[in-house]
Amino acid sequence: MGTDSPAAPVGGLGAKSTVRAVAQHHQAVVGFLVGFFLVLLLYTTLASQFGSQTAIGVLESRPAVRADQNATITPTSPSKNLAQDEEKEKNPDQAPVNEKNPDQAPVNEKNPDQAPVNDASDRMEEELIREEIDHGGIKNGTNTEPVTPRKPICDLSDPRYDICDISGDARTLGANRTVLYVPPVGELGADSQEWSIRDQSRKYLEYVNKVTVRSLNASQTAPECTSRHTVQALVFAMNGLTSNPWHDFSDVLIPLFITTRALEGEVQFLVSDLQPWFVDKYRLILKNLSRYDIVDFNQDMGVRCYPHVTVGLRGHRDLGIDPTRAPRNYTMLDFRLYVREIYSLPSAGVDIPCKVANSAASSGAIAEQQRKPRLMLINRGRTRKFVNFPEIVAAVQNAGFEVIPIEPRRDLSVEEFSRVVDSCDVLMGAHGAGLTNFFFLRTNAVMLQVVPWGHMEHPSMAFYGGPAREMRLRDVEYSIAAEESTLYDKYGKDNPVISDPESIHKQGWQFGMRYYWIEQDIKLNVTRLAPTLHQVLRMLRE
Ligand SMILES: *[C@@H]1O[C@H](CO)[C@@H](O)[C@H](O)[C@H]1NC(C)=O
Ligand SMILES: *[C@@H]1O[C@H](CO)[C@@H](O)[C@H](O)[C@H]1NC(C)=O
Ligand SMILES: *[C@@H]1O[C@H](CO)[C@@H](O)[C@H](O)[C@H]1NC(C)=O
Ligand SMILES: *[C@@H]1O[C@H](CO)[C@@H](O)[C@H](O)[C@H]1NC(C)=O
Ligand SMILES: *[C@@H]1O[C@H](CO)[C@@H](O)[C@H](O)[C@H]1NC(C)=O
Ligand SMILES: *[C@@H]1O[C@H](CO)[C@@H](O)[C@H](O)[C@H]1NC(C)=O
Ligand SMILES: *[C@@H]1O[C@H](CO)[C@@H](O)[C@H](O)[C@H]1NC(C)=O
Repeated sequence: MGTDSPAAPVGGLGAKSTVRAVAQHHQAVVGFLVGFFLVLLLYTTLASQFGSQTAIGVLESRPAVRADQNATITPTSPSKNLAQDEEKEKNPDQAPVNEKNPDQAPVNEKNPDQAPVNDASDRMEEELIREEIDHGGIKNGTNTEPVTPRKPICDLSDPRYDICDISGDARTLGANRTVLYVPPVGELGADSQEWSIRDQSRKYLEYVNKVTVRSLNASQTAPECTSRHTVQALVFAMNGLTSNPWHDFSDVLIPLFITTRALEGEVQFLVSDLQPWFVDKYRLILKNLSRYDIVDFNQDMGVRCYPHVTVGLRGHRDLGIDPTRAPRNYTMLDFRLYVREIYSLPSAGVDIPCKVANSAASSGAIAEQQRKPRLMLINRGRTRKFVNFPEIVAAVQNAGFEVIPIEPRRDLSVEEFSRVVDSCDVLMGAHGAGLTNFFFLRTNAVMLQVVPWGHMEHPSMAFYGGPAREMRLRDVEYSIAAEESTLYDKYGKDNPVISDPESIHKQGWQFGMRYYWIEQDIKLNVTRLAPTLHQVLRMLRE
């Protein structure tokens, strides 16, 4: 499962989450955490190996203050600021409101963290800023205007994720895993509120450490800013179940897209438990979502001051987006097209490769032979692998495809690999994270998912088939017969593992995990597979 070495840059498998669905499916809640722990062991092993292989250079913690702008303070009315905030909440389509932000205070460009802002003029500026962002109506000292009650900083109501949004004066203390809200002077009360949340998209995922969010009260002094920023910031974790590509996307990249895409790059990422391999692997996506340097939060000794900080990632479902809750009503189709654009793949209007080639050929003078559709056949590394891979390659060729066989390797970059996937009409593989490469397919391309033995149809649809359809790909599932599972030879046809998978699942998710996700390999019956291949060919000709 987790130890699976991906077939490709976005390879691997989605076992962990599958586990979750199965657990829910069978109400096998007990034992769930135990199982997760097992999964963790495998993953951390993999992650650390991977991490050390692909360590990248130092990530600098540079401030995002733009040197090309004038450091002038242009106070706007306090009420206007509130209005802006509210508008931003209602209308996330807008670019972040930060042009007017006055905190362009000169900060030592080269190394702000070693240059505390503490001389008198800076202090004055800080006071001005604080007034500027104060929306409490304290301007004339009488404080007679009713203070609009702030909405709570942290929202713990979603069943999937927790999230905190701090507007005004937000200060991050990365090394302390803390983000502070410093209320305007007029609002400093006796109560100090504190939250502690996991800053990723699964609020119950133990392996993500918590970040503390606290609002100060009148008797607490705010730590002084060592750097000030006009852009907003997002604190999120890169550890957890990442290193399995399915989870890279489901737990981090899609939630990151939901949370920040509408900001058009105007957000700085403060990454807790930063994984250099992740930053390297997905650098194109990360660089597009944020045009600022990534900050290694755990190592950040400074006090960074931002007009707005979000802690956590919004996520809607496994490898999915709920358009009614997403900024700009983003869909999974938008996400796939976005990823393709980032990787400079042909635009949405371009047809699948075999159609493009054949329409060009048929317009030529000579009626050339139709180009065969190209099928990428992914074999998995350790689990659910095709034991008769060469035979399958031959069968796919005989059916009329050009085959690109892909066996597990890690030496290709996502950039290179995405172009190979884009050149294919079909992506075929056993249920698992290798199929996550479907983001690089063109509209109307086909994902052919081989569903292993053991009532795996539900997770197969939930984690790949459903998302594929939402992204306007066509999905075809081939559910193997018992005889095509290596479990059949191992346990015999009368063993419940073969004869009654439901009874295995009912014993607890870890049993299903053990047999169907981990122990099972696949020996495809190419005779039985042939009609499915022909079905795919017909679909491609439509
Ligand atoms: C800063 O402001 C001055 C005076 O308004 C102006 O002449 C100058 O071009 C500005 N500099 C930048 C970098 O905008
Ligand atoms: C200060 O508050 C008083 C009482 O509400 C109001 O009458 C006055 O106009 C305010 N002054 C300013 C400068 O806003
Ligand atoms: C941050 O952590 C350091 C070391 O534990 C501690 O001395 C300091 O008081 C903390 N700062 C805040 C604002 O909690
Ligand atoms: C402010 O909060 C701290 C920590 O919660 C508390 O110990 C202190 O008494 C509070 N101060 C006031 C003035 O209530
Ligand atoms: C992100 O990608 C989009 C689409 O290619 C592009 O228009 C935009 O300028 C990019 N943003 C950044 C910050 O690179
Ligand atoms: C997004 O979806 C909601 C709910 O379906 C709808 O009310 C709203 O008009 C949509 N917004 C846009 C920009 O399409
Ligand atoms: C392979 O599938 C064909 C067609 O379904 C079937 O007749 C044959 O018995 C299968 N072979 C094996 C070894 O199971």
